[in-house]
Amino acid sequence: MRALILLAHPEPRSFNAHLAAQAAEQLRRDGVQVEAIDLYAEGFDPLEAAYHHPQRLQRERFDAQREQRHSAEHDLLPTDVRRHLQLLQATDLLILQFPLWWFAAPAILKGWLDRVLVYGPMYNSRQRHEHGVMRGKRALLSITTGSSARACAVDGREGDTRLLLWPLMYSLRYVGFDVMEPHVVHGVRSGLAPERVQAHDEALAAAADCYCERLAQWPQWPTVPFNDSGDFEDGVVLRAEATAYSPFIRHRHTG
Ligand SMILES: Cc1cc2nc3c(=O)[nH]c(=O)nc-3n(C[C@H](O)[C@H](O)[C@H](O)COP(=O)(O)O)c2cc1C
Repeated sequence: MRALILLAHPEPRSFNAHLAAQAAEQLRRDGVQVEAIDLYAEGFDPLEAAYHHPQRLQRERFDAQREQRHSAEHDLLPTDVRRHLQLLQATDLLILQFPLWWFAAPAILKGWLDRVLVYGPMYNSRQRHEHGVMRGKRALLSITTGSSARACAVDGREGDTRLLLWPLMYSLRYVGFDVMEPHVVHGVRSGLAPERVQAHDEALAAAADCYCERLAQWPQWPTVPFNDSGDFEDGVVLRAEATAYSPFIRHRHTG
């Protein structure tokens, strides 16, 4: 078994870096071959742009999807993208470790999706969702929030964290992954009053231990349900009889 852990955090001594390291250690203990990538440390360029595709299919106007497919077909993808693609294709488990920044993933991780989930080898109109190239593999979002669990609940002031993660989970599902229920540690703070530091550190240590225990059973970790292609009329609109798993794809209210 192989795992690929991507860390999207600028500080190697952060709690996020700690969780990524703990996950790698736990999986290695269980005999999993782990590849860990620190996107900031390797200076990953998150911008999908014309300069990554010097031998263009179309000179006059940069079309990211067409140029990605052209570069892939002619073995012209940038070295970093080629390497990350190979690691993705080889892995059984992908873990994305990041802090919630402005209700989303840090830009470097969004850019990783933009550049590495290459149109052509990673998805096309026939290979996506349950027919995606990553089918049979699992993916996990492991995140931290500064806000408390109460504030991040479905009725919390910060909005429902699981729902915020849905577009990212759907991108993983789009390329075929079985997406595991996200792992979230809330209330990861800095600058606390001295009398609150010890309790905070103990809570984080307990959360990291709990994560490792759960990871030891990762093949049994529950997954997020999504609609299959057959649930959509004309391949586009959710059928009346189909289950709606998320407010992002739901039935229209009638009357
Ligand atoms: C640019 C930025 C945006 C942030 N946005 C949010 C947010 O939307 N929701 C939240 O709960 N915390 C937010 N935070 C707090 C971080 O999520 C928190 O500091 C992080 O999870 C702590 O983990 P770390 O110690 O590994 O950095 C933000 C922090 C930064 C720097």
